[in-house]
Amino acid sequence: MAALNGRLPLIAGNWKMNLDHLQAIAFVQKLAWSLKDARHDFTTVEVAVFPPFTDLRSVQTLIAADKLPIVFGGQDVSAHDSGAYTGEISGAFLSALECSYVIIGHSERRTLHNETDEQVAAKVSAALKHNLVPIICVGETAEDLEKHGPSAVPVAQLRAALAGVDTAADIVVAYEPVWAIGSGQAATPEQAEQVAAQLRSVLAELLGQDVAGKTRILYGGSVKANNIAGFMREPNVDGALVGGASLDLTEFANIVRYQKHVGV
Ligand code: 13P
Repeated sequence: MAALNGRLPLIAGNWKMNLDHLQAIAFVQKLAWSLKDARHDFTTVEVAVFPPFTDLRSVQTLIAADKLPIVFGGQDVSAHDSGAYTGEISGAFLSALECSYVIIGHSERRTLHNETDEQVAAKVSAALKHNLVPIICVGETAEDLEKHGPSAVPVAQLRAALAGVDTAADIVVAYEPVWAIGSGQAATPEQAEQVAAQLRSVLAELLGQDVAGKTRILYGGSVKANNIAGFMREPNVDGALVGGASLDLTEFANIVRYQKHVGV
């Protein structure tokens, strides 16, 4: 059962470079138990985790063996299928591990690894080719915000990322203002909604109304249990990409259960 707009809310935990494979198994197991205890209905809010690559096989095995209703994905993917690309991970490998999603163009990759819009677009195409749903991250820095306003940079990044995407594509967009990531200073729900609405109109323009209506747009940046409800009340925000708070079991479970503790 999705929301009234037909889009199933998605709460995604981006673990970044945290938790090894043993810690990952313990965490996912506890998360599943805790949500089950709380009678979380996974058909009303989808739950995804994004562990480091070295954890994925362990997480896959656990989820398959215990039939846990949690999905998972990689934090990045190579633009290439295979070959002499030391250190890179093919979408084919992620697909073989039953990943549903892959995060692409996170601001930490854009900043620390100099990923360009063109590389992001190539990775989005690679993900789709291997049946992974790309979570395309866009967002402006504090400087961009001052110079160009809130939506110019995210909109430009989304346009570039969609270069090779056709109208049948299943994608997710994550709006993560760089200034809100890890800062404890989340955007306001109104700010997130304003940019999400702009992003949805770009989707409509480039991929048609149908895809725009179906595509989930997440907000990310200092999301916590005590501010998630505000974001989820906004009509164009369909979930959250959670960093730090996704590593705290109680906090993350409470973010997933936003409908219960705040009455959205
Ligand atoms: P925080 O939730 O720690 O601000 O991180 C957000 C993020 O970068 C998720 O991808």
